[in-house]
Amino acid sequence: MSAAQFAVFGHPIAHSLSPQIHQAFARQFGIALEYRTIDAAPAEFAAAARRFFAEGGRGANVTLPHKAAAFALADERSEAAMRAGTANVLTPLPDGRNAAHNTDGAGLVRDLTERHRMDLRGHDALLLGAGGAARGVAWSLLDAGVRTLTIVNRTPETADALADAIGEPARAHTRYWEDLDDIGSFDLIINATSAGVLGKPLDLPFGFVGNRATCYDLSYGKAAANFIAWARAANALHAFDGLGMLVETAADAFELWHGKRPDTDPVHDELRRQYG
Ligand code: ATR
Repeated sequence: MSAAQFAVFGHPIAHSLSPQIHQAFARQFGIALEYRTIDAAPAEFAAAARRFFAEGGRGANVTLPHKAAAFALADERSEAAMRAGTANVLTPLPDGRNAAHNTDGAGLVRDLTERHRMDLRGHDALLLGAGGAARGVAWSLLDAGVRTLTIVNRTPETADALADAIGEPARAHTRYWEDLDDIGSFDLIINATSAGVLGKPLDLPFGFVGNRATCYDLSYGKAAANFIAWARAANALHAFDGLGMLVETAADAFELWHGKRPDTDPVHDELRRQYG
């Protein structure tokens, strides 16, 4: 019998670290699996995902630009996926239907609290962006105890829609992107925009970076470089990219599929050594 089949769908996807991460987790338990990348253009994603499961695929990770489509095609959805309206994990159910999960928010919070040893309670957080990535983490930050979540998006209506969906106006509210210069200071600043992925500069002022601020980009590698450089120039106490979050979100998917919790630190540390 051939090894169980897993895959990550994206577009582009060739440079995904997910195959390496899942193989490293599998080695911790002596599990044999195949994990490949599947590049699907947006119009082809749903058919490609259905084909993968029809052919016996045991689980799929889903990344840009397919997270909303993955949510839409699922038959069952976890609470985190429902809140975000997006999914990064698809799992086949025994009856042939499939279930969507979103592990992004849990992965971010675990990276911050366990790897970086932050206590989020009492932090005033600024969330830059209000698209799929921002929706994936907003509720988790609030659940983890941030005192306030200020959402700032280039298009204010999208930020308002996210704040409305959260429905806790005393804790989660919006401000205008144009007011970033004069918005007060924050001790946790999360970049959830896709500017870095798109290769566009964000051109942020420095004034809202508190003197003990942690700045965190949900992306990693080249996509996070501009924001990390900005955070260091702003004298942030910490500037982190999302590599740790990626490994944590993968661990949640791995546990969903295999019922075992991998040790993420050695895998994270090895990736950090390889990719900086
Ligand atoms: P993702 O799934 O990566 O979140 P998305 O849902 O398309 O992708 O959301 C992209 C987010 O990045 C949005 O908040 C977008 O702002 P708009 O709603 O105004 O489009 C934000 N974004 C992308 N490029 C940006 C840029 N150059 N400057 C500021 N915000 C940007």
